[in-house]
Amino acid sequence: QDHLITATQLSRDDIEAVLDRAREVAADPEAYADRHAGTMLALCFFEPSTRTRMSFDSAAKRLGIDTIDMGDVDSSSVSKGESLADTVRVIEGYADSIVLRHPSEGAATLAAEFVDVPVINAGDGAGQHPSQTLLDLHTIRENHGLDDLTVGIMGDLKYGRTVHSLATALTNFDARQHFISPESLRLPRSVRFDLHETGAQVREHDDLEAVLPELDVLYVTRIQKERFPDENEYHRVAGEYRIDADTLEAAPDDLTVMHPLPRVDEIAPDVDDTDHARYFEQAHNGIPVRMALLDTLLENAEADEGMEVDR
Ligand code: CP
Repeated sequence: QDHLITATQLSRDDIEAVLDRAREVAADPEAYADRHAGTMLALCFFEPSTRTRMSFDSAAKRLGIDTIDMGDVDSSSVSKGESLADTVRVIEGYADSIVLRHPSEGAATLAAEFVDVPVINAGDGAGQHPSQTLLDLHTIRENHGLDDLTVGIMGDLKYGRTVHSLATALTNFDARQHFISPESLRLPRSVRFDLHETGAQVREHDDLEAVLPELDVLYVTRIQKERFPDENEYHRVAGEYRIDADTLEAAPDDLTVMHPLPRVDEIAPDVDDTDHARYFEQAHNGIPVRMALLDTLLENAEADEGMEVDR
């Protein structure tokens, strides 16, 4: 079964196939309407979400897929102590694919071992968030293309799952990556290992100033307060990596500023009015990209079952 669990499983061809399809979806959404009518997607969010939950819901409905939502953890039988394995085994009887967000790293890998329907990891703790990466790459591609890129990734690189997936996926392309963070929030060992294995061009920095003029893309992230074991440690680094319109005076004219959102105070509102700001466009790209992803996974699942796929 095809699942999307981690960016390490995405080749350049896989990424380009989904992004090509996302372009087609954006150009002619009507051609994709009702393409998967009669199927069901389960939204299982064990952690809060606005963008991922709502854009998967909207993307599914635009493909003719019905959705069922597990609801909040407190209103589901998870609150009675039901295991993740039992929960997803039950839900696969109700749905043809599952989108799962969970606070534990590895939760989506575990879920995928217990079910035969496609599982999409919508964020597993401080692990991975690969569908976010696809929409991030789509946004970069539409603004700059994906070759000969210089990308700065700034903020919480330790706990930021969107960073882990994006950094890994960028190794498929000719990209120089600059990681800007406090010492205590550098990339985790597992991601460093993946980057090292691929021979990726990476450098680490304490501050943005020196590298900003070289960048095509600046990807800013929130400090993930909820993942800090010690809140005092969060307060020591919070607010250190904030940009505003003045900061961007030193940036190239065509710098694209991205953020997976939600932001707290990492990007001042005065950046929103500059030509650099792409983070709302990025969030809106969740629709064509997640439509393309669902279409691809369901098409593959139908093909695996020997069903005729007639498009
Ligand atoms: N980018 C992202 O994952 O946002 P949500 O937490 O709102 O889904």
